[in-house]
Amino acid sequence: MDSKIEKLNEKLALAQLGGGQKRIDKQHEKKKLTARERVDYLLDEGSFEEIGALVTHRTTDFGMKDQIIYGDGVVTGYGTIDGRLVYIYAQDFTVFGGALSETHAEKICKIMDMAVKVGAPIIGLNDSGGARIQEGVRSLGGYADIFYRNVQASGVVPQISAIMGPCAGGAVYSPAMTDFTIMVENTSYMFVTGPNVVKTVTNEEVSSEELGGAQTHASKSGVAHKTSLNDVACLEDIKTLLSYLPQNNTQTPQSLNYDLQDEIRDELSTIVPDNPNKPYDMHEVISGIIDKDSFYEIHKDYAESIIVGFARLGGRSIGIVANQPMSFAGVLGVKSSRKAARFTRFCDCFNIPLLVLVDVPGFLPGTDQEWNGIIVHGAKLLYALSEATVPRVTVITRKAYGGAYDVMNSKHIGADMNFAWPGAEIAVMGAKGASEIIFKREIAEADNPAETLEKKEQEYANLFANPYAAAKRGFIDEVILPKNTRRKLLKAFAMLEHKKIDRPKRKHGNIPL
Ligand code: COA
Repeated sequence: MDSKIEKLNEKLALAQLGGGQKRIDKQHEKKKLTARERVDYLLDEGSFEEIGALVTHRTTDFGMKDQIIYGDGVVTGYGTIDGRLVYIYAQDFTVFGGALSETHAEKICKIMDMAVKVGAPIIGLNDSGGARIQEGVRSLGGYADIFYRNVQASGVVPQISAIMGPCAGGAVYSPAMTDFTIMVENTSYMFVTGPNVVKTVTNEEVSSEELGGAQTHASKSGVAHKTSLNDVACLEDIKTLLSYLPQNNTQTPQSLNYDLQDEIRDELSTIVPDNPNKPYDMHEVISGIIDKDSFYEIHKDYAESIIVGFARLGGRSIGIVANQPMSFAGVLGVKSSRKAARFTRFCDCFNIPLLVLVDVPGFLPGTDQEWNGIIVHGAKLLYALSEATVPRVTVITRKAYGGAYDVMNSKHIGADMNFAWPGAEIAVMGAKGASEIIFKREIAEADNPAETLEKKEQEYANLFANPYAAAKRGFIDEVILPKNTRRKLLKAFAMLEHKKIDRPKRKHGNIPL
């Protein structure tokens, strides 16, 4: 028996060593943790249970039968984070560069299947040279098996991807189909085709970092929801993100204990400037409303005219979508509409109530926007909010103009409670623009056109640049003092806690993509 135990221990020790000490040292030299170090750091101490440590590939071509490494380049299993069950896979770059073989894919699929059966999040730590070149189409089949499961798991359990090294070619499509992608700065990149292929096909010269590094995807493409300074920061980010999410789509997120006080926030009264054309930072409004330091922003550097992220209100998790007057006056564009739509749909999948803060002058005009399909992308946000059945509350802090008023969680598209601050302007457009159109002839024929325009502008503003025309019709449920906003929202979300909407049966809707 002793020899049999020894044999097992020997195999397990080899599995622990992955591609060997030399390659582990190389990984550390690149300021990267190994797959096992990452798993250990992320999960509660001692909670990791490995599945498939002794799996090996089945390839014999290209001398592969002499290169058998236990685990086959991916560490898979389950464990807990803050006591909550999660399933995890971590690609091991020290084994064939973390390249994905048929068996490597099978290991990932196995834990994905378990996660869906049990109803717990899936976390993928990606660090891989892509398809295992020696395996050809078997490796491609493995990718597709994972993609298929990503889709089946979508909206059932949260899926989080961390990119902690290379992620190229077909490999990019699994993270792209998960809910969140976090990239480590300077050591990770993602692209469909690398710089060499780009040079050959388009003659463009571009570095890996510029083409698909963390900053690129966080600010230009929006592929990355967040970037982290290094491996440890990335793993901390995953823990924080997870704390706002439920285990699966049948549960609500864990709420933290919170003792309610009077909840008046005087600081909210002075944030919005008197001049409607002056910007202010919507982050200050968010901070004034939520539990202290609880905002976890998603897509911070992408499409900054809209802010999205998770926060806590009285200990409960909420999703926030908010126009940002500091960036392009908070206008809705192609990117900002897509960003907010995707976030809205995530919150709706996982029973996270939505708070929408509105200060929007309309949609961004111009050929660039129109030719890039602002109609369809704006429609995404309209669609996403209209279909959301979670509790939905709106606060209009200042402007809500034109079609953007409708889109930004108006009463008409199913919002549950709609508040406005006393300075809110709910109208088809700003008073100046409106007067120039409807009083065009009167102004042109006037002895003093400038004075007439000013007078008409004032007339229009008196009539429409306020929240009362909307409140009269019940489009606004209550005009509230800014300092009372937090208290009103605490009450509204508590009142809506057991909201239930049953939609007519259908296969799925057809969101404009
Ligand atoms: N299949 C099989 N083995 C692979 C691999 C792949 N796709 N990608 C990397 N490896 C192996 C390398 O042969 C090397 O093996 P070794 O340790 O026995 O020498 C090891 O992984 C590390 O790769 P290396 O090239 O030394 O690392 P690097 O950090 O310098 O470069 C990459 C990393 C990913 C840029 C580079 O390995 C690469 O270009 N790989 C191929 C990417 C690709 O075209 N994939 C297929 C299409 S998706």
